[in-house]
Amino acid sequence: MNLIILGPPGAGKGTQSEKMVETFGLVQLSTGDMLRAEVKSGSEPGDETKNIMDLGELVPDDRIVAMISKQIDKPSTVKGFILDGFPRTTVQARALDAMLSEKSLKMDHVIQLVVDENVIVERLSGRFSCSECGVGYHDSFKNPVEDGKCDKCGAQEFLRRSDDKPETVRSRLLAYREQTAPIIPFYSDKGVLQSIDGMGTVEEVFDKINEIVAGG
Ligand code: AP5
Repeated sequence: MNLIILGPPGAGKGTQSEKMVETFGLVQLSTGDMLRAEVKSGSEPGDETKNIMDLGELVPDDRIVAMISKQIDKPSTVKGFILDGFPRTTVQARALDAMLSEKSLKMDHVIQLVVDENVIVERLSGRFSCSECGVGYHDSFKNPVEDGKCDKCGAQEFLRRSDDKPETVRSRLLAYREQTAPIIPFYSDKGVLQSIDGMGTVEEVFDKINEIVAGG
Protein backbone atom coordinates (compact mmCIF):
# COMPACT_ATOMS: atom_id res chain seq x y z
CA MET A 1 0.00 0.00 0.00
CA ASN A 2 1.35 3.41 -0.99
CA LEU A 3 -0.14 6.63 0.24
CA ILE A 4 0.32 10.37 0.39
CA ILE A 5 -0.49 12.34 3.53
CA LEU A 6 -1.23 15.95 2.69
CA GLY A 7 -1.86 19.01 4.81
CA PRO A 8 -0.44 22.32 5.96
CA PRO A 9 2.55 22.60 8.33
CA GLY A 10 1.58 21.20 11.72
CA ALA A 11 -1.48 19.33 10.41
CA GLY A 12 -0.16 16.12 11.97
CA LYS A 13 1.34 14.46 8.88
CA GLY A 14 4.45 13.26 10.74
CA THR A 15 2.48 12.16 13.81
CA GLN A 16 0.03 10.09 11.77
CA SER A 17 2.80 8.71 9.53
CA GLU A 18 4.59 7.35 12.60
CA LYS A 19 1.43 5.54 13.66
CA MET A 20 0.99 4.08 10.17
CA VAL A 21 4.58 2.87 10.21
CA GLU A 22 3.92 1.02 13.50
CA THR A 23 0.53 -0.34 12.45
CA PHE A 24 0.94 -1.22 8.79
CA GLY A 25 4.70 -1.72 8.48
CA LEU A 26 5.01 1.00 5.86
CA VAL A 27 8.10 3.15 5.37
CA GLN A 28 7.73 6.89 6.04
CA LEU A 29 9.39 9.01 3.37
CA SER A 30 9.47 12.52 4.84
CA THR A 31 11.20 15.07 2.61
CA GLY A 32 11.44 17.45 5.61
CA ASP A 33 13.33 14.79 7.64
CA MET A 34 15.62 14.07 4.67
CA LEU A 35 16.41 17.77 4.28
CA ARG A 36 17.05 18.20 8.03
CA ALA A 37 19.47 15.23 7.87
CA GLU A 38 21.26 16.95 4.98
CA VAL A 39 21.52 20.18 7.00
CA LYS A 40 22.83 18.26 10.04
CA SER A 41 25.52 16.60 7.89
CA GLY A 42 27.20 20.01 7.49
CA SER A 43 27.57 19.63 3.70
CA GLU A 44 27.61 22.62 1.33
CA PRO A 45 24.15 21.91 -0.15
CA GLY A 46 23.01 21.56 3.47
CA ASP A 47 23.89 25.23 4.17
CA GLU A 48 21.80 26.35 1.21
CA THR A 49 18.94 24.07 2.30
CA LYS A 50 19.02 25.51 5.82
CA ASN A 51 18.68 29.06 4.47
CA ILE A 52 15.65 28.08 2.40
CA MET A 53 13.99 26.18 5.26
CA ASP A 54 14.62 28.99 7.77
CA LEU A 55 12.84 31.38 5.41
CA GLY A 56 9.88 28.98 5.24
CA GLU A 57 10.30 28.63 1.47
CA LEU A 58 10.42 25.49 -0.66
CA VAL A 59 13.55 23.67 -1.82
CA PRO A 60 13.81 23.41 -5.67
CA ASP A 61 11.59 20.72 -7.21
CA ASP A 62 14.33 18.89 -9.14
CA ARG A 63 16.36 18.20 -5.99
CA ILE A 64 13.32 16.94 -4.09
CA VAL A 65 12.09 14.70 -6.92
CA ALA A 66 15.53 13.08 -7.29
CA MET A 67 15.69 12.52 -3.51
CA ILE A 68 12.29 10.77 -3.39
CA SER A 69 12.96 8.64 -6.47
CA LYS A 70 16.10 7.27 -4.82
CA GLN A 71 14.20 6.41 -1.62
CA ILE A 72 11.32 4.67 -3.43
CA ASP A 73 13.84 2.39 -5.14
CA LYS A 74 15.11 1.04 -1.80
CA PRO A 75 14.14 -2.56 -0.90
CA SER A 76 12.81 -1.32 2.48
CA THR A 77 9.71 0.06 0.69
CA VAL A 78 8.56 -3.44 -0.32
CA LYS A 79 5.41 -3.30 1.94
CA GLY A 80 4.69 0.22 0.75
CA PHE A 81 5.43 3.80 1.67
CA ILE A 82 3.89 6.98 3.04
CA LEU A 83 4.86 10.22 1.34
CA ASP A 84 4.94 12.88 4.09
CA GLY A 85 5.59 16.42 2.85
CA PHE A 86 5.80 15.37 -0.80
CA PRO A 87 4.50 16.31 -3.33
CA ARG A 88 4.32 19.99 -2.41
CA THR A 89 3.94 21.64 -5.82
CA THR A 90 2.11 20.71 -9.03
CA VAL A 91 5.52 20.11 -10.66
CA GLN A 92 6.31 17.56 -7.93
CA ALA A 93 2.85 15.93 -8.23
CA ARG A 94 3.27 15.47 -11.99
CA ALA A 95 6.83 14.20 -11.56
CA LEU A 96 5.57 11.69 -8.98
CA ASP A 97 2.93 10.40 -11.41
CA ALA A 98 5.56 9.88 -14.10
CA MET A 99 7.94 8.25 -11.61
CA LEU A 100 5.30 5.81 -10.35
CA SER A 101 4.25 4.70 -13.80
CA GLU A 102 7.91 4.24 -14.79
CA LYS A 103 8.41 2.01 -11.71
CA SER A 104 5.06 0.19 -12.26
CA LEU A 105 3.74 1.44 -8.92
CA LYS A 106 0.49 3.15 -7.96
CA MET A 107 -0.81 5.41 -5.21
CA ASP A 108 -3.60 3.75 -3.20
CA HIS A 109 -4.71 6.69 -1.07
CA VAL A 110 -4.18 10.44 -0.91
CA ILE A 111 -5.30 11.61 2.54
CA GLN A 112 -5.68 15.29 3.30
CA LEU A 113 -5.68 16.46 6.94
CA VAL A 114 -7.81 19.58 7.33
CA VAL A 115 -6.78 21.79 10.27
CA ASP A 116 -7.52 25.45 11.14
CA GLU A 117 -4.57 27.85 10.95
CA ASN A 118 -4.94 29.04 14.58
CA VAL A 119 -4.58 25.42 15.75
CA ILE A 120 -1.48 25.04 13.57
CA VAL A 121 0.29 27.97 15.21
CA GLU A 122 -0.42 26.54 18.67
CA ARG A 123 0.80 23.08 17.64
CA LEU A 124 4.03 24.31 16.08
CA SER A 125 4.96 26.85 18.75
CA GLY A 126 4.82 24.15 21.46
CA ARG A 127 6.61 21.38 19.58
CA PHE A 128 9.99 19.99 20.70
CA SER A 129 11.85 16.70 20.31
CA CYS A 130 14.52 14.61 21.98
CA SER A 131 17.98 15.55 20.68
CA GLU A 132 19.09 11.89 20.84
CA CYS A 133 16.26 9.70 19.52
CA GLY A 134 14.03 12.35 17.89
CA VAL A 135 10.82 11.42 19.73
CA GLY A 136 8.38 14.33 19.54
CA TYR A 137 6.78 16.18 22.47
CA HIS A 138 4.57 19.21 22.95
CA ASP A 139 4.40 21.84 25.74
CA SER A 140 0.61 21.53 26.06
CA PHE A 141 -0.30 18.09 24.71
CA LYS A 142 2.58 15.72 25.40
CA ASN A 143 5.31 16.40 27.93
CA PRO A 144 7.83 13.72 28.99
CA VAL A 145 6.49 11.66 31.93
CA GLU A 146 9.55 12.66 33.96
CA ASP A 147 10.22 16.37 33.53
CA GLY A 148 13.30 17.03 31.35
CA LYS A 149 13.93 13.35 30.55
CA CYS A 150 13.03 11.61 27.29
CA ASP A 151 10.50 8.78 27.84
CA LYS A 152 12.11 6.63 25.18
CA CYS A 153 15.88 6.97 25.62
CA GLY A 154 16.35 8.97 28.86
CA ALA A 155 18.30 11.80 27.17
CA GLN A 156 18.00 15.19 28.83
CA GLU A 157 18.43 17.51 25.86
CA PHE A 158 15.61 18.64 23.63
CA LEU A 159 15.45 20.60 20.38
CA ARG A 160 13.02 23.06 18.85
CA ARG A 161 12.91 23.42 15.06
CA SER A 162 14.30 26.76 13.88
CA ASP A 163 11.46 27.00 11.33
CA ASP A 164 8.82 26.82 14.09
CA LYS A 165 9.37 30.51 14.97
CA PRO A 166 6.07 32.41 14.44
CA GLU A 167 7.39 34.52 11.51
CA THR A 168 8.69 31.42 9.70
CA VAL A 169 5.45 29.55 10.38
CA ARG A 170 3.62 32.42 8.63
CA SER A 171 5.88 32.02 5.56
CA ARG A 172 5.40 28.24 5.60
CA LEU A 173 1.62 28.70 5.66
CA LEU A 174 1.86 31.13 2.75
CA ALA A 175 3.97 28.64 0.77
CA TYR A 176 1.34 25.99 1.53
CA ARG A 177 -1.56 28.18 0.38
CA GLU A 178 0.17 29.36 -2.79
CA GLN A 179 2.21 26.35 -3.91
CA THR A 180 0.86 23.21 -2.22
CA ALA A 181 -2.93 23.72 -1.98
CA PRO A 182 -3.18 23.78 -5.83
CA ILE A 183 -2.29 20.06 -5.89
CA ILE A 184 -5.52 19.21 -4.04
CA PRO A 185 -7.73 19.56 -7.17
CA PHE A 186 -5.09 17.58 -9.07
CA TYR A 187 -5.78 14.56 -6.80
CA SER A 188 -9.53 15.11 -6.42
CA ASP A 189 -9.86 15.14 -10.24
CA LYS A 190 -8.20 11.72 -10.24
CA GLY A 191 -10.78 10.50 -7.68
CA VAL A 192 -8.17 9.40 -5.11
CA LEU A 193 -8.38 12.25 -2.59
CA GLN A 194 -9.97 11.71 0.82
CA SER A 195 -10.17 14.67 3.21
CA ILE A 196 -10.50 14.19 6.95
CA ASP A 197 -10.84 16.49 9.93
CA GLY A 198 -7.38 16.67 11.49
CA MET A 199 -8.51 18.57 14.58
CA GLY A 200 -9.49 15.69 16.85
CA THR A 201 -7.06 13.88 19.12
CA VAL A 202 -4.21 11.94 17.54
CA GLU A 203 -6.18 8.71 18.11
CA GLU A 204 -9.39 10.11 16.61
CA VAL A 205 -7.55 11.21 13.48
CA PHE A 206 -5.82 7.85 13.22
CA ASP A 207 -9.18 6.03 13.48
CA LYS A 208 -10.37 7.96 10.42
CA ILE A 209 -7.21 7.02 8.52
CA ASN A 210 -7.80 3.39 9.49
CA GLU A 211 -11.33 3.55 8.08
CA ILE A 212 -10.00 4.83 4.76
CA VAL A 213 -7.28 2.20 4.58
CA ALA A 214 -9.69 -0.61 5.59
CA GLY A 215 -12.10 0.55 2.87
CA GLY A 216 -9.47 -0.49 0.29
P1 AP5 B 1 8.35 19.47 6.76
O1 AP5 B 1 9.29 18.89 7.71
O2 AP5 B 1 7.64 18.59 5.79
O3 AP5 B 1 7.35 20.38 7.58
P2 AP5 B 1 5.82 20.70 7.40
O4 AP5 B 1 5.08 20.19 6.23
O5 AP5 B 1 5.80 22.17 7.55
O6 AP5 B 1 5.20 19.83 8.46
P3 AP5 B 1 5.55 19.68 9.97
O7 AP5 B 1 6.57 18.62 10.16
O8 AP5 B 1 5.85 20.99 10.61
O9 AP5 B 1 4.13 19.28 10.50
P4 AP5 B 1 3.33 17.91 10.43
O10 AP5 B 1 2.12 18.08 9.56
O11 AP5 B 1 4.23 16.75 10.14
O12 AP5 B 1 2.81 17.90 11.92
P5 AP5 B 1 3.35 17.06 13.16
O13 AP5 B 1 2.86 15.67 13.09
O14 AP5 B 1 4.82 17.28 13.34
O15 AP5 B 1 9.09 20.60 5.86
C1 AP5 B 1 9.95 21.56 6.44
C2 AP5 B 1 10.57 22.39 5.32
O16 AP5 B 1 11.35 21.55 4.45
C3 AP5 B 1 9.59 23.12 4.38
O17 AP5 B 1 9.16 24.35 4.92
C4 AP5 B 1 10.46 23.28 3.12
O18 AP5 B 1 11.38 24.33 3.26
C5 AP5 B 1 11.24 21.97 3.08
N1 AP5 B 1 10.55 20.91 2.32
C6 AP5 B 1 10.06 19.73 2.82
N2 AP5 B 1 9.50 19.00 1.85
C7 AP5 B 1 9.62 19.71 0.71
C8 AP5 B 1 9.19 19.49 -0.64
N3 AP5 B 1 8.50 18.39 -0.98
N4 AP5 B 1 9.47 20.45 -1.56
C9 AP5 B 1 10.17 21.57 -1.22
N5 AP5 B 1 10.59 21.85 0.03
C10 AP5 B 1 10.31 20.93 0.99
O19 AP5 B 1 2.55 17.80 14.33
C11 AP5 B 1 2.86 19.12 14.73
C12 AP5 B 1 2.68 19.25 16.25
O20 AP5 B 1 1.30 19.04 16.57
C13 AP5 B 1 3.45 18.21 17.06
O21 AP5 B 1 3.90 18.81 18.25
C14 AP5 B 1 2.41 17.13 17.37
O22 AP5 B 1 2.70 16.46 18.58
C15 AP5 B 1 1.14 17.94 17.46
N6 AP5 B 1 -0.02 17.21 17.00
C16 AP5 B 1 -0.12 16.45 15.87
N7 AP5 B 1 -1.35 15.94 15.74
C17 AP5 B 1 -2.07 16.41 16.81
C18 AP5 B 1 -3.41 16.26 17.25
N8 AP5 B 1 -4.30 15.53 16.56
N9 AP5 B 1 -3.78 16.89 18.39
C19 AP5 B 1 -2.90 17.65 19.09
N10 AP5 B 1 -1.60 17.82 18.73
C20 AP5 B 1 -1.20 17.22 17.61
